[in-house]
Amino acid sequence: MKALYTSLKHPLARGGGIVLVLVVITLFAAFVRQTQASPEQPILFPHNLHVGLGIQCLYCHPGAARGPNAGLPAQAKCWGCHQQIAKKTPELEKLAQYVQNNEPIPWVPVAIVPDFVKFNHRPHVAAGLNCETCHGDMTKVKIAQNPQVMNMGWCLNCHREKAKDDPVKLQKLIDCSTCHY
Ligand code: HEC
Ligand code: HEC
Ligand code: HEC
Ligand code: HEC
Ligand code: HEC
Repeated sequence: MKALYTSLKHPLARGGGIVLVLVVITLFAAFVRQTQASPEQPILFPHNLHVGLGIQCLYCHPGAARGPNAGLPAQAKCWGCHQQIAKKTPELEKLAQYVQNNEPIPWVPVAIVPDFVKFNHRPHVAAGLNCETCHGDMTKVKIAQNPQVMNMGWCLNCHREKAKDDPVKLQKLIDCSTCHY
């Protein structure tokens, strides 16, 4: 214990400690940035273009109004339109390949909370929240990305704000078992 104490007092050891702290902070920042950036996707699906065409979010993610998961469109839904569109580009070639091979498109998840968290889209959509509130403005992004880190503080902040005039609802919305199994 004494040796540890002396070594901590040693200026070099203290410098090392600071370096270690800086390394940890840097790694953490890189991790946070990584979780917010758009991942590589098997097809560069442009949200902005499709949303700009007036296609509704719920047309491709109908589960959001019905239950826990919004769901992603199967290739048949893409093909319903793209079979009719003569345009050929490298990205649409990839789509045609998946359809031809009857292989599901391996989209990489972007918006995700850990398994021990119960999230359900339905009550949120039923309460009148827009998709944009949580997922950002999809008319501005190509590949989906998280506009914020979806952590517990984020959920709780909104729950406290939305239920601030209703103590019973507040109790329910901040109760651990509402969000955890
Ligand atoms: C309701 C019709 C519709 C649906 C459904 C649809 N698209 Fe599109 N998509 C379009 C139209 C229209 C364009 C614009 C074509 C153009 O620029 O001429 C387009 C453009 C694209 C492009 C850009 C083409 C390029 O490289 O310039 C890609 C990639 C694409 N779609 C992929 C998909 C995928 C993957 C799905 C399914 C998840 C899908 N689309 C579903 C209508 C649709
Ligand atoms: C034509 C179909 C189509 C439309 C319309 C569409 N999306 Fe998507 N969405 C997709 C596809 C395909 C993916 C998977 C690729 C990706 O993550 O970019 C996706 C991914 C997402 C993701 C990330 C999903 C994940 O796995 O983490 C979110 C969030 C999302 N969309 C929200 C929206 C919102 C909000 C709207 C309306 C403003 C919308 N989408 C409109 C097809 C669509
Ligand atoms: C209150 C915030 C909130 C709102 C509002 C919201 N979402 Fe989500 N969304 C989330 C969270 C949190 C996740 C991650 C869920 C998980 O990992 O189980 C998610 C995941 C997704 C996903 C990918 C995973 C899945 O559920 O299939 C898609 C696609 C999606 N949302 C689309 C939408 C669309 C479309 C709307 C509007 C109709 C919408 N969301 C409204 C918070 C929200
Ligand atoms: C932008 C605001 C907002 C965010 C962010 C948000 N919620 Fe909610 N949440 C609400 C509202 C509003 C309701 C509906 C309250 C009501 O019943 O009127 C709700 C309801 C719920 C319910 C249903 C509670 C019940 O009645 O049983 C669960 C579960 C839930 N949220 C989990 C989450 C989780 C987990 C997150 C974060 C990943 C989250 N929410 C993020 C606003 C939000
Ligand atoms: C409104 C939803 C919500 C409520 C209520 C909630 N949590 Fe969480 N909790 C989350 C989400 C989302 C995560 C995962 C993201 C994260 O780690 O912040 C999480 C993560 C955690 C973790 C893991 C932390 C970590 O660093 O990995 C613990 C432990 C936890 N919650 C405990 C609790 C306890 C105890 C309560 C009640 C006092 C509670 N939670 C209430 C949404 C909620």
